[in-house]
Amino acid sequence: MRIGVLTGGGDCPGLNAVIRAVVRKGVEVYEHEFVGFRDGWRGPLEGVTMELGVPQVRGILPRGGTILGSSRTNPIKVDGGVERIEANLRELGIDALIAIGGEDTLGVATQLAEHGINVVGVPKTIDNDLGATDYTFGFDTAVQIAVDAIDRLHTTAESHHRALIVEVMGRHAGWIALHSGLAGGANVILIPERPFDIDLVCEYVTARFKRHYAPIIVVAEGAEPAEGTLALQAGELDAFGHVRLGGIGAVLEREIEARTGFESRQTVLGHVQRGGTPTAYDRILATRFGLHAIDAVHEGDSGVMVALRGTDIVRVPLADATRELKTVPLDRYAEAQVFFG
Ligand code: F6P
Repeated sequence: MRIGVLTGGGDCPGLNAVIRAVVRKGVEVYEHEFVGFRDGWRGPLEGVTMELGVPQVRGILPRGGTILGSSRTNPIKVDGGVERIEANLRELGIDALIAIGGEDTLGVATQLAEHGINVVGVPKTIDNDLGATDYTFGFDTAVQIAVDAIDRLHTTAESHHRALIVEVMGRHAGWIALHSGLAGGANVILIPERPFDIDLVCEYVTARFKRHYAPIIVVAEGAEPAEGTLALQAGELDAFGHVRLGGIGAVLEREIEARTGFESRQTVLGHVQRGGTPTAYDRILATRFGLHAIDAVHEGDSGVMVALRGTDIVRVPLADATRELKTVPLDRYAEAQVFFG
């Protein structure tokens, strides 16, 4: 078989580990051939490819990013996009696609599978917000990066008696904030699933200073104040209609300082959370996903995604992955609330 591989959406540590596992098992066990598509769905849409064999995947296991490149190109939004992809796959002699991506990339994969294109999905996102899989690779690395930052911020916060705000990624789901805040001993964690009350946040901050500790506030970029409490500015939209976020850390810095009188500073971790080498956990999860994805393609399966259930890798319908975002359940948030203030 001749199999196309692409990585779409925001990059994430572990993408290269998936590509390596797919190619190594595909070539060495099944004797398949591979074509690398560049920059997510832009590759199949515009017919932009690169060589993808065992030599190209040597040494990439610990490397962050993706050797294939990525983009947020949405071919469904392009006139005749699906037909152009079909024509390019036919011309290149591609029998099946492996699409490694998050909600948007797999949403496109679902629609292409409905058009009769053979496609197997692999879930990725540092946000851990994809339904149908317990965890996505990249999340563990992002959390570790945020925890390392929080550990460092504690000591400078104490030295200067400041409230330090750490803004982490997470548009609609607060998994990175919840896990890094819990592991890093945050004073309060703010997530999109639970609109926050700024007065309560300030109470936590003041209470922490009273006990001679400096507070760390971990906030997901998509966290919002409870309705009618604080006004936020709207950002621009990308090709999938997502708002470009960022800025809640600055709002908190200003408000906390003004309302409590304690000096406040924000740190926005941003894309640092997506860069660099994956943790061992993510390398293993990504590798296992890759091995199971190539098995699925080899067996002629399509319209499915590999997923983690407990410790097993299973196959689920692609549509299940994108039907609903996996957000933080409020009882999980309540566990963390014990440590607030
Ligand atoms: O979906 C992954 C993610 O890192 C989100 O956490 C974040 O909101 C978004 O991507 C940032 O996107 P971009 O790389 O386009 O700025």
